[in-house]
Amino acid sequence: SIPIFTTLAALRKWRNAAFAEGKSVGFVPTMGALHKGHLSLVHHSLVQNDLTVVSIFVNPTQFAPHEDLSSYPRTLPQDLDALSTLRGPSKRTPSAIFLPSVDVMYPSSAKDGAQLQTGAFVEVKGIGEVMEGRSRPAFFRGVATVVTKLFNAVQPSHAYFGQKDIQQALLLRRMVADLLLAYPTEQTLHVIPTTRSSVPGDCELALSSRNAYLTPEERVYAPTLYSALQAAERAWNEGRPKAHAVRAAVGVLETEALAANDAGVKMRLDYVEMNDPWTFDIINDAETMNSGEGRAFILSGAMWVGKTRLIDNILLGDS
Ligand code: PAJ
Repeated sequence: SIPIFTTLAALRKWRNAAFAEGKSVGFVPTMGALHKGHLSLVHHSLVQNDLTVVSIFVNPTQFAPHEDLSSYPRTLPQDLDALSTLRGPSKRTPSAIFLPSVDVMYPSSAKDGAQLQTGAFVEVKGIGEVMEGRSRPAFFRGVATVVTKLFNAVQPSHAYFGQKDIQQALLLRRMVADLLLAYPTEQTLHVIPTTRSSVPGDCELALSSRNAYLTPEERVYAPTLYSALQAAERAWNEGRPKAHAVRAAVGVLETEALAANDAGVKMRLDYVEMNDPWTFDIINDAETMNSGEGRAFILSGAMWVGKTRLIDNILLGDS
């Protein structure tokens, strides 16, 4: 079975052996409740590296006090099972699982009992303060902090993140560049396409651990977000300006929201936007129309179904 490391000392010993043997180490950080999207990242790592480490850690600092830290799905036995049955090339499995405690990840902050409000934190200004960062102010600080720590612990040659959380992946790439991190480098932080449901009727709903929160009635309306983004994509591909594309998405959402309401399900659009892939700033209509050759945009959206917030995105243009 795959070794599970819960201490830094054990992980570092294993990592030093890999350094000594000249083996590349791929890394997939997760918060568990693994689904096919996570496993697709692990698969990419198995293909590209001699060794692969997966971490499972529900990181408290990226949840706001009112958010779902205590109810976040925890399915460790199933997660370990999914990882041990996964096979890469030459029947390769993940080489190690890092399962740290809060004390391991926040050695000083956890000790002084200040609800992890003291100690060292990492902030990425700009990209971390717009879009998802605006809706959830502490979120990206928590993500940047824990991923820096995880990178320092694992020292991966390559790291894998999902396009599903595109702003997170791009923010981390920038963080790696700005902090001159060497494990991984900006070039070896990979963004892997979103894995979507293949169940008929799901309309390619993005897989997400948070889908588990949806009641059967709510689940019916979850695919609306991607349908709405696709409507915006079609409008944009027809040469419409951004405002028109966004309106196409809002139209789809509003129609579905009425049907949902009749079925007793509350559905609300948070935003549909087009963003610059580097700064994540919202782009304006004029920029979309004068985009010229080779300019790429991120069409991103967030939606509430009941008490669950879902996000998704599509890359437009070259990427
Ligand atoms: P978590 O939500 O568990 O996601 C772990 C990784 O899986 C992230 O890179 C995420 O983008 C990717 N992922 C999730 N759903 C996906 C899908 N449908 N297709 C492809 N990739 C998908 O994101 C986090 O955890 C945390 O913020 C973390 C980076 C681990 C820091 O705590």
